[in-house]
Amino acid sequence: MKEIKINTKSRNYPVLVGTDILNEKNLNEFSNKEILLVVDSKIEDSIKKEVQIILSNISSKYSEVIIEANEENKSNATLSVIYDELIEQGFSRDCILFALGGGIVCDMTGFAAATYLRGVDFVLIPSTLLSQVDASVGGKTAINHPKGKNMIGAFHQPSKVLTDTKLLKSLEKVQIREGLAEIIKHALIKDKTFFKWLEENIEDLLEGNDVKLLQAISKSIEIKAEVVSQDETEQGIRKWLNFGHTFGHAIEVYGNYKKFSHGEAVAMGMVMATNLSQKILNLEKVEKDKIKHLVQSILTEELLKTEFHPKNLIKLMSADKKKKGDNLNFILLSSIGEAQILSDIEESDIIESIKLT
Ligand code: GLY
Repeated sequence: MKEIKINTKSRNYPVLVGTDILNEKNLNEFSNKEILLVVDSKIEDSIKKEVQIILSNISSKYSEVIIEANEENKSNATLSVIYDELIEQGFSRDCILFALGGGIVCDMTGFAAATYLRGVDFVLIPSTLLSQVDASVGGKTAINHPKGKNMIGAFHQPSKVLTDTKLLKSLEKVQIREGLAEIIKHALIKDKTFFKWLEENIEDLLEGNDVKLLQAISKSIEIKAEVVSQDETEQGIRKWLNFGHTFGHAIEVYGNYKKFSHGEAVAMGMVMATNLSQKILNLEKVEKDKIKHLVQSILTEELLKTEFHPKNLIKLMSADKKKKGDNLNFILLSSIGEAQILSDIEESDIIESIKLT
């Protein structure tokens, strides 16, 4: 088991990464606490039971809320279900919330913890590859508003994260690909050696090889830890984590959040951002080709054939930024492992970059 330290201005905490690490020993600092478990209804019964037994054994008071996790339910109404349980059971400010699930459950539980009684502690047990390498690290918590994703939220760091690869056993291929998109992103913005390792091991990772996945998860969390430890609230370098996301968020809306998953949209967005990087930052063609080759390998043939209407995609990008009060920024690469934030890019250059091959 590896312990990765996240040291932010507001809190320092460990992310434990390993296989079969869900046990009382790794949670003993929470003994005799009031514990509320927020759990994704899709979690395998045996895992759910294991966590329920550990938490109910160590707690002074225990309760749970089961959530059907989807973007529609990442809402005020579902958040109220969590608050209702906390209030009805009389949970005090000294309580601790646990999330067992993917990014939606982690984000919502974190936001409930950020706001209940003006802020209580929480622990994350992420269950998908995507949430293990992204949502569980760095303290972004949120719910959706009918007008936009993650519009209501807070930065609130967890007390601990338990990242157990045992939970990945039942993941479908598409979920592995989603997580790999964010893992590749971490390599692209900060670590050329890791990128090379990913190139060499991508087939095994796509096949769900345990040992390789554990290595990729650990390295990926280390990169994200370094970024969020320097810039907890996204004033600068944390924006690099949005590589591929300016295009990606628009692609998600383009497909009505149904046609493309978040990870698929980000992967497609990374191909476009790589095209734009060559145009704007003179990213070398040989590096551009390597990046595209790796990212394309985690997308299906069908997705790679998708054709976007460039002007419509640009409109969606601008609308998203306007809604959030941001400028239309792009994270681009001058080389593999070297990212930069750029704005004021000519529309014609963006249009030219909107292609997947
Ligand atoms: N998912 C990007 C971030 O945590 O900043």
